[in-house]
Amino acid sequence: MNGSVSAPGKAILLGEHAVVYGKPAIAIPLPQVRAVADFRLNETALTIVAADLQRPPWQWDDSATVSSDPLASMAALTLQHLGICAPKGEITIRSAIPIASGLGSGAAVSAALGRAIAALCRATLSNAALNALVFEVEKLHHGSPSGIDNTTIVFEQPVYFQRGQPNHRISPTRRLDFLLADSGVPALTRESVAAVRQSVREEPARTNCLLDQIASVAVAALASLEAGDRMRLGELMTANHGHLRELGLSTLELDTLVKAAMQAGALGAKLSGGGRGGNIIALVEPAEASAVKRALQLAGAKRVLAASVGGG
Ligand code: PMV
Repeated sequence: MNGSVSAPGKAILLGEHAVVYGKPAIAIPLPQVRAVADFRLNETALTIVAADLQRPPWQWDDSATVSSDPLASMAALTLQHLGICAPKGEITIRSAIPIASGLGSGAAVSAALGRAIAALCRATLSNAALNALVFEVEKLHHGSPSGIDNTTIVFEQPVYFQRGQPNHRISPTRRLDFLLADSGVPALTRESVAAVRQSVREEPARTNCLLDQIASVAVAALASLEAGDRMRLGELMTANHGHLRELGLSTLELDTLVKAAMQAGALGAKLSGGGRGGNIIALVEPAEASAVKRALQLAGAKRVLAASVGGG
């Protein structure tokens, strides 16, 4: 049996970092950049090939368990959840999602792998179960994730996410157009999350106040999204960039991209994800999108991706 399964990237619209502390945040899937897992039944022990991820092929052996390797962990956890032995066959993972750039590459690869293993075993794996498994792998390898990445990626829908609360999937009434611009600077989310944690310890009053302000912006943004109020949503995104900057999460490259987007007519712009590198996200009117894209490229963006949500 051969086939192909996949999972999208994601971008955080508002609320990153505060979401780690139980505040709400909003994220959108990026269906046009995906991790794809092609699977093929054969007579050899389960082999996972992931050339894009710069790693050698990995072959299952029955002593394999949750380990320091995210793919091995995902395979082991999925088989354990399904209660079956490793199937024979090969899974080849390709990912168009840049690594360490805040677009959810790790969670998408785990989700695609979980789907491929279930397909090879002809087993049913619900999105809810897959989400829990991907979250386990995120916890093992990324410190203290909030769960927003895996939730957005597995369900492939915009979410208003708050730890410990039921998922609230958003359906924006009007179409919203975004541009994501990559600063080209890789950054590990684990490290930026640790830096914010250190600020919470060392400067609790100031840091908690900023996290509360971010939470207020996310709450207000939900109302703007549902009402299709693009102007207000843009203002809230730019305000959120200011808070993240004050938390020390922006860089010269990210600030330059945000400024370029705004000067070229974006309705709002901010860093997206862990920060200290990675991408910015800008909200644009469709008529302004190509001017903003050009401005971002001139300001040094290594790649600009268009994404949209809502509007049926
Ligand atoms: O994976 P990234 O870089 O998009 O960051 C995820 C967002 C954080 O709030 C910084 C961390 C988390 O687990 O929610």
